[in-house]
Amino acid sequence: MALPDESKHARVTRALREGIQTGLLVPGEKLPGSRELARHWGVARNTVMGALEQLEAEGYLAVRARSGSVVAALPPLPSTAGPLSGPPLLLSAWARRALEAQGPLPGDARSNQAAGHPTAWTDFRVGQSPSGLFPSAQWAQALAQHAFDAASSPPDPRGPLVTRLALCEWLRRERGARLTPDMLLLTGGAQEALDALSRLLLEAGRVVVLEDPGYPGARAAFQATGAGLWPLAVDDQGAGTDNLPPRAVLAYLTPGTQFPTGVTLSAARRAALIDWSRRSGAWLIEDDYAADLHYAARAPASLQGQAPERVMLLGTFSQSLAPALRSGYLVAPAHVTELLTRTRPVTQRTPPTLDALALAGFLSSGGYARHLRRARSELRSRHDTLLSALKRELPGWSPRRVAAGTHLYLPLPPHLSELEVQRRAAQAGVGLSVCGELRLRPGEAAVLLAFAHLTPVAIREGVERLAAALR
Ligand SMILES: Cc1ncc(COP(=O)(O)O)c(C=O)c1O
Repeated sequence: MALPDESKHARVTRALREGIQTGLLVPGEKLPGSRELARHWGVARNTVMGALEQLEAEGYLAVRARSGSVVAALPPLPSTAGPLSGPPLLLSAWARRALEAQGPLPGDARSNQAAGHPTAWTDFRVGQSPSGLFPSAQWAQALAQHAFDAASSPPDPRGPLVTRLALCEWLRRERGARLTPDMLLLTGGAQEALDALSRLLLEAGRVVVLEDPGYPGARAAFQATGAGLWPLAVDDQGAGTDNLPPRAVLAYLTPGTQFPTGVTLSAARRAALIDWSRRSGAWLIEDDYAADLHYAARAPASLQGQAPERVMLLGTFSQSLAPALRSGYLVAPAHVTELLTRTRPVTQRTPPTLDALALAGFLSSGGYARHLRRARSELRSRHDTLLSALKRELPGWSPRRVAAGTHLYLPLPPHLSELEVQRRAAQAGVGLSVCGELRLRPGEAAVLLAFAHLTPVAIREGVERLAAALR
């Protein structure tokens, strides 16, 4: 097949060269005469002769006086079956630490295989998208409506103003946040904000405080910078405040719905953390990931609203819409968003404009609020199904009711270890996540059961099999 703009000479030369390289023409094989080749390719004889000359000069052909052109013996080509070898990859310190920080991912299919699960598989592991809730028709409509504007909008490194205005209104009303549009930066989900803040503020020799157990995405972003990690044990009031360090750069918190325990940070702890942040100079990062899926009419107000000069608020649409959208935002004082806007061109010039405009339309039309009402009620019913199945099938256990989010936290009775429960569950065809993967230091043994992607029937059946395996 000819490549666009390829001359006849180049086409014939390439075809012969590829024939030799791929072994179609073998060393010692005599080529047909130039007249016959010219007829075969529908080109002038001179073109063929020019190609033969070039391939002779490249060492692919030998020309013998009486027998014409013969394929030359070539040194073997490197095999392409295995990885192509090349110069050694000299990884940066950041890359080495980022790779080390990646434990087995919750949704990693390999851990299923390792567990040797039977065919009937109920997968309660965390990190999966809620099923059947994405408002596809409305989202498609919003995308179609804004396709033209998106292509012609001037790029804005913070994200389009119309989206930031709509989000400001939403966050003031729904989260009690205090902000103006210049304090908002649209991001590709919470992870992009965590990475951007980590690279802006952390390095080896600096300290970042984080909840233990806690969110592995935040830990990985912090660890990759080489900063020291300072864990705060979590209890039934949220992150503990007894052993805060005198100095730190950042403290990462999930105050509304602690990940993974589901606890809400108490008012006393909120006040203590804000007070400490003023004394230590640390910024508080509030990861508000589950706020939009709070089952009560209204989630507890944001920490950012209590101390906008000390708190950076991260939001995401991964839980309420879909993780694949990669859509979220960061709220911080304007001088912080200004710095992030100026460093952003190094990695990503602007957030994707079309998605941002569709989001603005979805927020201001009331479509998002309607979607949330439906999603919350559906998720609450899946949560309640899981909770009552656990109470029925595993009486005496104490699953923790959660106020928001997509998984349930199940502390284990003292005679069972996390790995034993995971192993026995896998043998019965049930996947679950263990809390140990989310810890920096040893603590309460517990497993996590995600429910948002499962039907009530699958939830009940999974719990029955889990309980049978653990009895
Ligand atoms: C604590 C926490 N933060 C953030 C997120 C979302 O991250 P992202 O917006 O990068 O998908 C999740 C998962 O949905 C989470 O559990």
